[in-house]
Amino acid sequence: MRKKIIAGNWKMNETPSEALKLVETLKPLVNNPDVDVVYCVPAIDIVPVVNAVKGTNVHVGAENLYFEDKGAYTGEISADMLLDAGVEYVIMGHSERRGYFHETDEDINRKLLKALEKGLKPIVCCGESLEQREEGITEDWIRMQIKIAFKGVTAEQAKGVVIAYEPIWAIGTGKTATSEQAEEVCKAIRETIGEIYDEATAAAIRIQYGGSMNAGNCKELLAMPDIDGGLIGGASLKPDFGTIVNYNK
Ligand code: PGA
Repeated sequence: MRKKIIAGNWKMNETPSEALKLVETLKPLVNNPDVDVVYCVPAIDIVPVVNAVKGTNVHVGAENLYFEDKGAYTGEISADMLLDAGVEYVIMGHSERRGYFHETDEDINRKLLKALEKGLKPIVCCGESLEQREEGITEDWIRMQIKIAFKGVTAEQAKGVVIAYEPIWAIGTGKTATSEQAEEVCKAIRETIGEIYDEATAAAIRIQYGGSMNAGNCKELLAMPDIDGGLIGGASLKPDFGTIVNYNK
């Protein structure tokens, strides 16, 4: 049985003082022992949020990392820095990083290898554009993203990775994939992992859906057999996040 994982992706929202208020607001709403709860927060919010969630069920994630260990990489953050600050999870390959900051599949592969080497739990994002969906190449595209991202990753390591399927056309648009559309691709991702590794790895890996998941549509999405959680943007900044965490209540 795969434990569900509900992660908030705060993106570039919440100053450190706003972050503390949000953690307080959400504190009584996000208790569900059936679910791993993660807040992926801006780098500057990591230390205050790690302190604020101490003693709760909430885990803290970063939104990005760099694949070098240290040195002259102005503006970047290393895996060791994240770990030392108390971070457990890290998002990589979000479509906003791919789109606005020109991250390639090869960069994401290097980030994944570094995160695993250091013991961070990766959340690897993939997803197609509307154009790609309309051209009928969604599954080919996603298989390519996954195959490149996982180059050099062992089966044992892959079991601990979280994959987030986020169709770009559904992110921040209010346009959610139907649960059937989301399931279809999450299933294809699991099959791809099965082809790269084996059945046991495919059965162990957790796959999230992301893209306008909210308090209203989460139940149906999270009921699908290959959807093991959600990566939530907009709704993670509101009490709605608590409703999503408690989707099974
Ligand atoms: P959204 O963002 O929930 O606001 O659509 C999801 C994401 O980009 O992770």
